[in-house]
Amino acid sequence: MNTVIGIDLGTSTTEAAVIQNGKPLMIFNLDNEIITPSAVGLNENDEFVVGEKARAQYLLSPEKTAIEVKRKIGTNDKISLGKEQYTPVELSAKLLEYVKTYASEYLKSEISRAVISVPAYFDDLQRQATVEAGKKAGLEVMRILNEPTAAALSYGLEHMEEESHILVYDLGGGTFDVTLLEMFDGVLEVKASSGDNQLGGKDFDQKIMDWLIGEFQKKHEIDLTKDKFAMVKLKEAAEQCKKALSQNHSHQILIPMIAEKSGEPIALDETMTAEAFEELTRELIERTHPPIDVVLADSGILPEDIDRIILVGGSTRMPLVAKDIEAYLHMAPSQAVNPDYAVAEGAAIQAGIIEGSIHQEDSIIITDVNPYTLGIRVVDNFSMDRMAVIIPRNVTIPVTRSETYFTSSDNQTIAHIEVYQGESSSASRNHFLGDFEIHGIPPKKAKAERIHVEFSYNLDGMLNVKASIPSTGADASIEINMMQEQTDEEELMDVSKWKDAPNAGEFRTIIRRAEKLLKHPHVQNDMSLKETLETAIYDLKEALISEDQELAKVCESDLMYILDEFHEE
Ligand SMILES: Nc1ncnc2c1ncn2[C@@H]1O[C@H](COP(=O)(O)OP(=O)(O)OP(=O)(O)O)[C@@H](O)[C@H]1O
Ligand SMILES: [Mg+2]
Repeated sequence: MNTVIGIDLGTSTTEAAVIQNGKPLMIFNLDNEIITPSAVGLNENDEFVVGEKARAQYLLSPEKTAIEVKRKIGTNDKISLGKEQYTPVELSAKLLEYVKTYASEYLKSEISRAVISVPAYFDDLQRQATVEAGKKAGLEVMRILNEPTAAALSYGLEHMEEESHILVYDLGGGTFDVTLLEMFDGVLEVKASSGDNQLGGKDFDQKIMDWLIGEFQKKHEIDLTKDKFAMVKLKEAAEQCKKALSQNHSHQILIPMIAEKSGEPIALDETMTAEAFEELTRELIERTHPPIDVVLADSGILPEDIDRIILVGGSTRMPLVAKDIEAYLHMAPSQAVNPDYAVAEGAAIQAGIIEGSIHQEDSIIITDVNPYTLGIRVVDNFSMDRMAVIIPRNVTIPVTRSETYFTSSDNQTIAHIEVYQGESSSASRNHFLGDFEIHGIPPKKAKAERIHVEFSYNLDGMLNVKASIPSTGADASIEINMMQEQTDEEELMDVSKWKDAPNAGEFRTIIRRAEKLLKHPHVQNDMSLKETLETAIYDLKEALISEDQELAKVCESDLMYILDEFHEE
């Protein structure tokens, strides 16, 4: 038996499931629990601990415990555990290794293949990093599946005969995802996805923490934020309070010895009511509205066309979620799936389809969407760096689209095709995916020869880009594996000494402005903007160190553009 399991590798919790007798079955971990906290740490002997053990030690040794690693996956950030530093991939691999161990134990069979779910808007770096973590853990990742698609699959398996528009609303520990799917004749089609990758249960905890810190400051004039251990206790208490308020009307937060004053211990003792909590977190809930609007607009569906709203993620247990959805969309969400298990169950269904343990007649065909715009760099009258869109974001995949372009200079015989992913109208501000050249264009006047470019994106995450010259039939192509293991980390230059570069003075002000903007909470909360800005700053410093004045000027104007755009907003 070579079973494929489904894994929901979440920000705060991780679950796994498998298909048995045509239905998903949740897998128990070594503590005999279905839900495993996504925590990894080093114990007193510097051995790795994972799951509940790691979560429990977080209270005592937060400096040796990592939580919410998923928020960093796909970045170059390092995570410290004691004296050692780890990459998000390494720590995610530890979690997956634990899942592999407990699933093998529970199923009494060595598990080595899995389908892993990720948020729909994860970009390809984040997806690749997830695949890499699986590989490091000794798992062959058969498919990366979008979490909302997984949730809809777990609903769809039991309701295949329905024809409907389903809105999946997933508010987890760290991320918010909203997706619209259409189901008909056993085909589940993803119409559109959106979300906020910096919005989740954690932010609700933070609101309670901030309130507690404020009250404590008022009463005792002590700033608890200076005390790491107090903060850890507060975080735990805040989460408990939030969960209690999902059931009870009010909750008392009592932490006996959180601080001391003139040698006397001081307790924190506050009571929060459900109303006060809702008031405190209204602005967070309201942040779910724009992504809902985007999804409706992108899929061309009106709120009244939605047939069912499915809630996924632990945070949807907060009563204000259902209340807010009902007020906003005039429809009550249904309780059709288990919010904690649906994603893992759906991943298992996908795994079952791959291994063939779900019978053909029950099989659900899934189509997915391309989460980011794909295109190429072109030169036109207005710009040397225009992103020409070939497959727009939120188009259903598999998909093939093509466009025709013209030569840009006289006697041009070669075209250089650069492929990008992203939403900026300047290609260089998007994520570069790959490039190739097509030769043999007959030399003529500019714009006299046509170049045909075709993109095909399939469900296995392969993007095939083909260029051809209609007048001669010459063609060239590349295949880009959007989920391929991360290519060798780019060699990054150390740019910390940019100030010593000969022309640094001229650019000091713009760099300072940009670095100031980088600290702005709006930028910190917007991963893609943050990345764009960081790259632009890095590029300018690199140009200065390489003493490339011309390039520095280009980079400067790029930075200016970002700064201007930000201030307009
Ligand atoms: N009863 C409850 N009331 C309110 N919040 C809850 C409740 N139970 C769990 N949560 C919250 O749900 C969050 C975890 O949800 P979940 O396990 O679905 O997230 P995740 O899948 O790990 O995260 P993500 O999907 O963002 O990667 C935590 O913030 C937790 O505090
Ligand atoms: Mg989740």
